[in-house]
Amino acid sequence: MKKHLTLLSFLFLGLAQAQDISIIPKPASVEPQKGVFTLSASTKIILEGSGTEKSAAFFNSYLKKFYGFQLPVVKIKSSEKNAIVLNYDRIDHTVPGAYTMTVDNNKIYIGGDNAEGVFYGIQSLIQLLPLEKKTSLDIPQVKIIDSARFAYRGMHLDCGRHFFDVAFVKKYIDFIAMYKMNTFHWHLTEDQGWRIEIKKYPKLTSVGAYRNGTIIGRYPGKGNDNQKYGGFYTQEQVKEIVKYAADRYITVIPEIEMPGHSSAAIAAYPELSCFPDEPTFKGGTGKQVQQTWGVFEDVFCPSDFTFKFLENVLDEVIQLFPSKYIHIGGDECPKESWKRSAFCQQLIKEKGLKDEHALQSYFIGRIEKYLNSKGRQIIGWDEILEGGLAPNASVMSWRGEQGGIDAAKQKHKVIMTPGGWCYFDHSQTKNEDSVTIGGYLPIEKVYSYEPLPKELNAEEAKYVLGAQANVWTEYMGNTNKIEYMIFPRISALSEVLWSSKERNWDGFEKRLMNEYKRYDWWKVNYSKAFFDLKASILPTENNSGVYYSLESKYKDGKIELLTKQSPPLYPYKGPILVTSSDKFLANLTDNNNDVLSSVIQSFSFNKATGKKIKLTTQPSPTYPGNGGAFGLVNGASAGDKGVNSAEWLGWNGKDMEAVIDLGKMQLIKKVSTNVLIQENSWIYAPASMEVLVSEDGNQFTQVSFLDPITMPVGTGGLSIFIASFTPAETRFVKLVLKNYGKIPSGKPGAGNPAWLFVDEISVD
Ligand code: ACM
Repeated sequence: MKKHLTLLSFLFLGLAQAQDISIIPKPASVEPQKGVFTLSASTKIILEGSGTEKSAAFFNSYLKKFYGFQLPVVKIKSSEKNAIVLNYDRIDHTVPGAYTMTVDNNKIYIGGDNAEGVFYGIQSLIQLLPLEKKTSLDIPQVKIIDSARFAYRGMHLDCGRHFFDVAFVKKYIDFIAMYKMNTFHWHLTEDQGWRIEIKKYPKLTSVGAYRNGTIIGRYPGKGNDNQKYGGFYTQEQVKEIVKYAADRYITVIPEIEMPGHSSAAIAAYPELSCFPDEPTFKGGTGKQVQQTWGVFEDVFCPSDFTFKFLENVLDEVIQLFPSKYIHIGGDECPKESWKRSAFCQQLIKEKGLKDEHALQSYFIGRIEKYLNSKGRQIIGWDEILEGGLAPNASVMSWRGEQGGIDAAKQKHKVIMTPGGWCYFDHSQTKNEDSVTIGGYLPIEKVYSYEPLPKELNAEEAKYVLGAQANVWTEYMGNTNKIEYMIFPRISALSEVLWSSKERNWDGFEKRLMNEYKRYDWWKVNYSKAFFDLKASILPTENNSGVYYSLESKYKDGKIELLTKQSPPLYPYKGPILVTSSDKFLANLTDNNNDVLSSVIQSFSFNKATGKKIKLTTQPSPTYPGNGGAFGLVNGASAGDKGVNSAEWLGWNGKDMEAVIDLGKMQLIKKVSTNVLIQENSWIYAPASMEVLVSEDGNQFTQVSFLDPITMPVGTGGLSIFIASFTPAETRFVKLVLKNYGKIPSGKPGAGNPAWLFVDEISVD
């Protein structure tokens, strides 16, 4: 009997291991075989292909770190028994880095199409290792053939807003490598700090790398910590990092921001500004490194002094970075100081330029010419399209995908980093309790990203090299927070970039469950938002009341509810019909009754709650609200979470027009709605608010019109806009909120279309 059991569990174990092949990003082809290969300290790595030693070194350092032993590395072809053989194979591929891997009972064979391919084979092998510290490691037998979809697979890190030491930058590069990504976009200069040593300009770091304080909390902040903060990378450290990355087949693209986001450089060398004598802070003295977040008007002056300075800086930068591409920024450059500078106006005339946007193009074009003369290419954020693209520039599309689409149609290379899918500074949970910049980007949405826009035909799509996640660090002051913001989203992005277009969320979700164990094994600080209790509010069949529904991916726990009407906690069994104002507390608890996640939801009922609603203009896909149009009448308000609330529907440059069907004729006298005003995030109050009524839904009569003079505009944040009018008998109510329009100069986001953020609509 005992023997029988052992056999059974052995069989079961074998089966479990075959199922354990859980590689992210998903390889093109995986054929599990029966049995295992057992790796131990006596297994040797045979370098049959020259140039494979970097891969062996990476594998050995991983083994040492997590299992406490290393393997001998040999070059002479000896017996291939009990060995990991690294060699080359010819493999069909379009993007460099293809590989095959065969694990049988004697050996592991990895054949790369090139050395990079061998390295990616090693990354897959790492993901076959058991997550348990042992001296002999069973690896499931398997045949893998794999290659990448996109040539550019990037992660960015902003070391300007906050500074991260060399050790963490290396760790970050390891994360990039383990997900088979190949580009590290290193954001090195910002308003809040210049982070790279430039020998010719020592003040860039002695002055520009430090700020005398930082705002506390979310912009505009609850005061200033008045602490000196900063740091920089010496050129020796930069070289060390570039080599570390190259050993992992990762290119480091440095970003030197111009002409905007240049306050730190200007603090070091005020002559770089058009107004060297104007202080950075109103009422303060001299130029200073910025202490708050945002976009600042004092930018590089397009003078000979500035160009000579930038050429000298770039001379040192290109000595340090072998990358073909140098990122020159180009984003968020206000034109105010150029407008009021006699020098700039004269330059515009002399060069026959149309306006300040053309002056920015002249600026970027001149830098491009210089870098091209040194054999390098420029990449810039999509604003570099605005006054005309520099002839050879590549574009990083961040304000949505349009910049990338336009650039590809103009036959320029494109990297996609649209905010709605690729900004890892956005919250990944609706219940985020740490400060983030805003937005809502759950892992599911990252996974759904398709880097090739439908608007491009096959020929144009070839210009899209790939995509990248951006990690802006205003609200990431330590490395734990960075890990929390990138994990698990980096896993999803890696699959978007590496694996075939035919992705399958369910399959990914299964592998993701295993990936969480790997994060624990790596001891990285990851977000558990995926397991959050998720609430949804849904319409009912007859539009009376709403359904409140709860679920979690955590299947070993239970959901309990508390309402005003029914203390104490009772088990949740399915969607709850809510027909009047109420408040619910829901807890997800594990087997020990520890609360893993909670949701509090208030419902405030009025005549519109749960009713049919139609929108004439659809919100931006980036801010679709909670359940689309229905979110405007679901009884749930955005609350005090500001831009972080998922309830907001956002329109970019467009008006909001909604029609609510109250279901029957009734007397109404007031329509109110929540609007978010957060000008620093380009979210502005509407220009007007209009209410119309109708018996039949066709013929509408205006009952109220409020313009900026009569509108009760709040000071910012969540504002309630109220239209009261002579009581009217009606069935249909139309609410029109006119967008603020193009943002005027002097305001955040000047020149861009304003956002309009709207939430609940109440009818009384
Ligand atoms: C950017 O996020 N300003 C490129």
